[in-house]
Amino acid sequence: MSSYDKVKSQHTSAEEHYKTTTARIQKIQAHLENARRGEKLSGKVCIITGVGSLKGIGRAASILFGHEGAKHLYLIDFDSTNFPSLKEIIQKKYPDVQVTTIQADAADESAISRVCEQALQEEGRLDVFFANAGVASRNGLQDTSADTFMNSMRVNALSCFLAIKHASAAMLKTNASRGKNVSSGSIIMTASVAGIRSGAGTIDYSASKAAVNSMAKTSAYQLQKTDIRVNTICPGLIETGMTGDTFDYARSRGTAGKIGQLNPLGRFGVAEEIANAALFLASDDSSYVNGQNIAVDGGLSASHPVVPGRWA
Ligand SMILES: NC(=O)c1ccc[n+]([C@@H]2O[C@H](COP(=O)([O-])OP(=O)(O)OC[C@H]3O[C@@H](n4cnc5c(N)ncnc54)[C@H](O)[C@@H]3O)[C@@H](O)[C@H]2O)c1
Repeated sequence: MSSYDKVKSQHTSAEEHYKTTTARIQKIQAHLENARRGEKLSGKVCIITGVGSLKGIGRAASILFGHEGAKHLYLIDFDSTNFPSLKEIIQKKYPDVQVTTIQADAADESAISRVCEQALQEEGRLDVFFANAGVASRNGLQDTSADTFMNSMRVNALSCFLAIKHASAAMLKTNASRGKNVSSGSIIMTASVAGIRSGAGTIDYSASKAAVNSMAKTSAYQLQKTDIRVNTICPGLIETGMTGDTFDYARSRGTAGKIGQLNPLGRFGVAEEIANAALFLASDDSSYVNGQNIAVDGGLSASHPVVPGRWA
């Protein structure tokens, strides 16, 4: 048997692979339930945007940051519907973590400057800003209006610019009485594999995420010698509120096994897997990681398009 045939014979059917994927994802999601409390964010004051969606990356990151002992979480979304349940989960499991929910537009300069100021006034320091709020669009090139383009740029890119501008100003402030003798901080932004190359989003969405990736590099340079790091996470296909319709449609048609088949892991991801990357970047574990666009995509962006099973 040729090595190509051997690889092919090892491949499971889409249905079998979907079962394995589901089991794997349940295990990943259950991990936090059983994991011992960590201290990776102990004493850190953090702001996270886009926390409102029940299956979203922002909500998963908020819970994980609480698990890792963040001192105070300022949680922002323009939709406050799910704030009470998020606050309850964090405060019940992690009563030492203070939670402040704020209904605001992540692309509103006065709101973003205000929350950075609030953190300084209440806690005397700001350590982490996770600029995660974002919107996707659906239309093809000829149906994309100038308004749609500008809205994607406003919500996805302008929000990140404002986070960098105001969070870095707050992170530059020192406060010896709160244990901060020198400037420092971590700014994390959720970009996308769509911001790396084509094929993963509309033209306006992809352009806005490419802008986010670019801003991490420029701002890391402009913030040199401040110990303020700026990085992006580029998720691949993650099951969240944003992509829920696609998943529901595939499941209703019995084609769920095909979701996520384009990346080498052959599966989609979940919000908790992106939250883990955000935790790494928020914590001192990533103290020398700066100006980077980190793909968390099952290997999608590492590969040219290939026929599954070929060249394995
Ligand atoms: N889900 C994916 O496959 C995927 C892939 C790549 C990148 N992303 C990015 O991940 C980030 C999080 O999205 P998600 O997948 O968790 O989607 P989601 O829709 O579940 O969550 C996004 C949250 O952002 C909030 N939001 C949107 N615009 C806002 C604004 N102007 N101000 C405040 N809050 C706002 C929404 O209300 C929502 O709660 C986004 O930036 C998105 O572009 C997602």
